[in-house]
Amino acid sequence: MHQQKIILFLIIAMVSVSCERSGEHGEEKQQTEKPIRPMPDPAVIAAGKTIYKDHCRQCHGINGVGNTNWRIKKANGFWLPPPLNGTAHTWHHPKKWLFDRIKNGSPKGKGEMPALKDKLSDAEINAVIVWMQSLWPDNVYFMWQEKDRE
Ligand code: HEC
Repeated sequence: MHQQKIILFLIIAMVSVSCERSGEHGEEKQQTEKPIRPMPDPAVIAAGKTIYKDHCRQCHGINGVGNTNWRIKKANGFWLPPPLNGTAHTWHHPKKWLFDRIKNGSPKGKGEMPALKDKLSDAEINAVIVWMQSLWPDNVYFMWQEKDRE
C-alpha cells in the first residue's frame, strides 16, 4: 500500500513537471513567432491614397469599400470590383500577384480590371498597395503575410 502511494506520487509529480515544461515552451513559441507588422512610410501611404482617389476609386469605391455583392457574377460573366479594404479576399493574393493585377489588369477575357501600366509607375503601384494594406486590420494583414511567404 505504501509503495503504491509512492508510485502514485511519482506519477503525479512527473505529469505536473511535464505540463509546466510544455507551458513554458508554449509561451516561448508565442513570443518568438508573434508576427510583426511593418510600419510603412507615412509619405508612401499618403501618395497611395491620392493615386487611389485618381485611378481606382471610381470602381472600387471610397476607401476601398468595393461592392458588397462582389461574390456574384454580373450578367456578362465578370465580377464586380471587389472591396480592397480587407473585407473581401484580396489578402489571398501575394504581393507579386497584386502588383501584376494592377499593372496588367485582368487576364484577357477573364475580368474587367483595367491595366494601369500606362498611367502608373511601379513605385506608384507599390504605393497604392501600401495604402490599400494600411486599411486592413492586423489579423487580415497577418493572413496575407502568410500567403505572401508561400
Ligand atoms: C474600371 C474599373 C476599375 C478600375 C479603375 C480599377 N479596378 Fe481594380 N478591379 C476592377 C474589377 C472589375 C476587378 C475584378 C476583376 C476580376 O474579377 O478579375 C478588379 C480587381 C482588382 C484587384 C483584385 C482584387 C481581388 O481581391 O482579387 C485589385 C487588387 C485591384 N482591382 C486593385 C485596383 C487598384 C489599386 C486600382 C487603381 C490603381 C484599380 N483596381 C482600378 C475594376 C477596376
